[in-house]
Amino acid sequence: MKISPSHLFSERAKGMKASEIRELLKLTEMPDIISFAGGLPSPAAFPVDAVEKIVAELMEEKGGYVLQYGTTEGVTALRKALLARLRETQGFEASMENIIITAGSQQSLDLVGKVFLDPGDNVIVGAPTYLAATNAFRLFQANMESVPIEENGMDMDYLEEKIRQIERHSKSIKFIYVIPTFQNPMGVSLSVEGRKRLLNIAREHDLLILEDDPYSELRYEGEKLPSIKSMDEDGRVVYMGTISKVLAPGLRIAWVVGEVDIINKMILAKQPTDLCTNTLGQHIAAKYIAEGYIDPHIEKIRKMYLEKRDLMLKALKEKMPEGVTWTNPEGGMFIWLTLPEGMNARSTLEKAITEKVAYVVGDAFFPDGTGKNTLRLNFTNADNEKIDEGIGRLAAVFRREMADKGLENI
Ligand SMILES: Cc1ncc(COP(=O)(O)O)c(C=O)c1O
Repeated sequence: MKISPSHLFSERAKGMKASEIRELLKLTEMPDIISFAGGLPSPAAFPVDAVEKIVAELMEEKGGYVLQYGTTEGVTALRKALLARLRETQGFEASMENIIITAGSQQSLDLVGKVFLDPGDNVIVGAPTYLAATNAFRLFQANMESVPIEENGMDMDYLEEKIRQIERHSKSIKFIYVIPTFQNPMGVSLSVEGRKRLLNIAREHDLLILEDDPYSELRYEGEKLPSIKSMDEDGRVVYMGTISKVLAPGLRIAWVVGEVDIINKMILAKQPTDLCTNTLGQHIAAKYIAEGYIDPHIEKIRKMYLEKRDLMLKALKEKMPEGVTWTNPEGGMFIWLTLPEGMNARSTLEKAITEKVAYVVGDAFFPDGTGKNTLRLNFTNADNEKIDEGIGRLAAVFRREMADKGLENI
């Protein structure tokens, strides 16, 4: 008989739950399902030929060196290439000691948790926000305090009031976690005024801002917004970027830029996890950036994703029943749908799956479990021909459910 180890698990492990998105991603592997669920790039967006060429050149030029262990902070060539690129695309200067390479922004979130969070600490997050971030922070037994996300990003009045409220009871707010540009899951962005105000609020209450920025380079229309880090005068913004959405998530390469003390602690926190990020992947990314492949590639995928976004928005407009509303993202990967009050996106998901179409339920992104009538659609992964068909199937499911609930005339 096998032992049951559950009584041996740590308190931390006992609190772990399976991520709904990870579970849902399994659905995308089912044949003939149209999945708008995972936040996946289009497989057609991966630069296979360029990567093949770069790998061959690396083996030729550097041989086994690129297969060796590397330093925990990351390959020098990649950090240099990234600093130059961040100066150009995000408008801030940083030095080599201000940047650490991680195995994906997911690891960055985990390292931030390790370095900053004690049990019972408060973290301020959006409602809704990226589920795997709150899961990472919860692993350190932190408490999530949420602030509504609106059309122009986080509600700053609410944020100020929320901070005052928490401070009246305790002083342990560690940071405000924001995805200011093309937020996951809503696709909305924090306005320039909102960004300035956020910095002022953080300054006034002496809090850090964790700026998670996987999507800002995927802008399809509208004015570019300054990164919060570019307006940071006193080093309170910890900036996170990743190549997952603009190059390939399978390489697992991301970065954190922050004050030296923070980065040094993150290096120490990363060492026991994996010693270093995969060296070959870092060299591939370094060459991809330094040799100028990245800009034309991003240009290409912007066009590809703009077309997909427009196909989805058009299908939504044509097919969704009245009473269903959605965001109009200027970039990123997601459209956020709100069903009429009284609808439940979980029960409609079961029906959608029988119709072979999938999405992510919105309440998964709300730390307090609200948002029952909301859902997230990814528009970058499905084939163009499938988008219209998938939205049509979803619209039929929602229309039927609304009729069953007597909600069709709102
Ligand atoms: C807001 C946000 N942060 C972090 C990540 C994780 O990215 P990575 O692939 O770099 O781990 C994602 C991925 O979807 C994301 O949407």
